[in-house]
Amino acid sequence: MSQVRVIDVRTPSRRYQVHVGERLIGELGRLTRAVCPKAAKAQVISDSNVAPLYANEVVSVLADAGLICTVQIFEAGEASKNIHTLSSLLEGLASDGLTRDDIVVALGGGVVGDIAGLAAAMYLRGCAVVQLPTSLLAMVDSSVGGKCAVDLRAGKNLAGAFWQPSLVVADLSLLDSLSHELFADSCGEIIKYGVIADAALFLELEADPITAKDVGKERLVRIVARSIEIKRSVVEADEREGGLRQILNFGHTLGHAIEVASDFRLGHGSSISAGMCIIARASARMGWCSEITARRIEDVVCAHGLPTDTDIDAETLLSFATHDKKRRADHLNVVVPREIGRVELRNITIEGLREIIDLGCESR
Ligand code: GLY
Repeated sequence: MSQVRVIDVRTPSRRYQVHVGERLIGELGRLTRAVCPKAAKAQVISDSNVAPLYANEVVSVLADAGLICTVQIFEAGEASKNIHTLSSLLEGLASDGLTRDDIVVALGGGVVGDIAGLAAAMYLRGCAVVQLPTSLLAMVDSSVGGKCAVDLRAGKNLAGAFWQPSLVVADLSLLDSLSHELFADSCGEIIKYGVIADAALFLELEADPITAKDVGKERLVRIVARSIEIKRSVVEADEREGGLRQILNFGHTLGHAIEVASDFRLGHGSSISAGMCIIARASARMGWCSEITARRIEDVVCAHGLPTDTDIDAETLLSFATHDKKRRADHLNVVVPREIGRVELRNITIEGLREIIDLGCESR
């Protein structure tokens, strides 16, 4: 087997491991058993895209580890990430008779991880969840750190919990079924890690952008593991997003607004890439970072085939961005780049955000 990286995450509420490597599904039974020795049952929660590809194999390895295994599948897509799907998943956990010693296995991308994580957080007031991400985006971001949520009509991720997984298995072999578009989309989050915390990672992405076709698996293991290590350090220091964890939202205030305004036709990584570039250009114009820093962010985003701007009008952006749950009263925190590898939080007014949009969006 090729190289496997194991990252220990130690948050105040739970300690767990993230395994990153190839062909790890075969290890899933053993690893799950090690963290949930009393479990008799496991329920795999997946969506209509992913389940046909991997659910049988996952069920079979869990059964080999002595677990009675059932599967619940919901319709793929962000539109399913709501309270109705959550309710049906909770009923399914109950009707299959899972106890608090048993395990939810989230098999899928960000939507599956978020909703299955929340179902595990709520079911019997909390049972173990093993995250088995199948998209690069979920591997480097949403499967680690314990945020789980559903969307409300008023906005994305507005009802949720912090519920750390008991284990994360990031099996890069599962990315073979990912489209080139979705692979490229995920690179937005990896670029984000370079900007917020790792100038060397950013430099590497500048020198040699990652593409689905050319990236070697050894390199991908290293980059995914590095991204998770950065997230780990932030989450360990601030599990419940009291302060530092907000830096992970770089590009997200406007990115979420772009994603929702596009009705999720633009992917998450693409949306936050545009958000990062807008805030970087505005920051350069405000004197918070140099023009060179903003230009480098834009260039690396462009080199990964991701959007650097949006033509959504300022009022729409402002309206979606200010419904963001991170807003406190009439102010909100935004993350601004100071230099590559270093960002800071700024508490700004709604008018300040309007100024950022006006300064940062070039297409108006
Ligand atoms: N995706 C941002 C966070 O986990 O805090």
